[in-house]
Amino acid sequence: MKKSLLLATITALLLTGCGKDQDVLVVGTNAAFPPFEYMGGANGDEVKGLDIDIAKAIAADAGKTLKVENLKFDSLIVALNSGKIDFIASGMTITDERQKSVNFSTPYYEATQVVIVNQDSQVFNTPADLAGKKIAVQLGSTGDIMAKELKAEVVAFNTGFEAFMELKNHKVDLVLFDSQPAATYLAKNPTLKQLDIDFSPEFYGIAVAKNQPELLSQINATLVRLQSSGEYQQLLEKYQK
Ligand code: ARG
Repeated sequence: MKKSLLLATITALLLTGCGKDQDVLVVGTNAAFPPFEYMGGANGDEVKGLDIDIAKAIAADAGKTLKVENLKFDSLIVALNSGKIDFIASGMTITDERQKSVNFSTPYYEATQVVIVNQDSQVFNTPADLAGKKIAVQLGSTGDIMAKELKAEVVAFNTGFEAFMELKNHKVDLVLFDSQPAATYLAKNPTLKQLDIDFSPEFYGIAVAKNQPELLSQINATLVRLQSSGEYQQLLEKYQK
């Protein structure tokens, strides 16, 4: 009797306290990356964006309710591997290094890094021109990794917005950031411009913990469904204006 009571208590604790609600799927993101994820809605307290719509479709296909956790970009993989979140939808580029600690879905978006400078800046033509320059980036992003490889002086911020602020204040020479969020920011900041420098393409994927292969195949199935039904194309058009 006592033993079964103890067992019931432990089970209840696992299901509520430290365990997770079976009907909820938790997506981790960093909502400072428009149009993929950003704060919006009537009171500005809702996480919105292309990745969030994809995450909603993933949860709906799994018959679960989606919960969004807005975290620092460089803490997402740790949160995933500690079970705090079930998957990451955050414009995260598939890299060999990250693949050592997480699994990625099939790629769903092609991007590239771009160089943003002040209108009055000197012009750089090749990645090699950026050596020794002062570059602002988002902490833990592929821009951060690339800037370091360019042998530049790197200043990393928790969000791209802060990196752009540093540039507008002329405290750095340039910002290295993902193409689409940079375009969104540029559209609102006429004192900045993009330089024409070619970087290799990057591909965004949804990240899942290595021990969740079923969730990974579910996510891939949802991506296929969105693509073949034309819904994905509609989402792209909705968010890429
Ligand atoms: N694509 C870049 C990377 O994977 C930047 C992603 C930043 N995402 C965000 N939601 N802040 O590192």
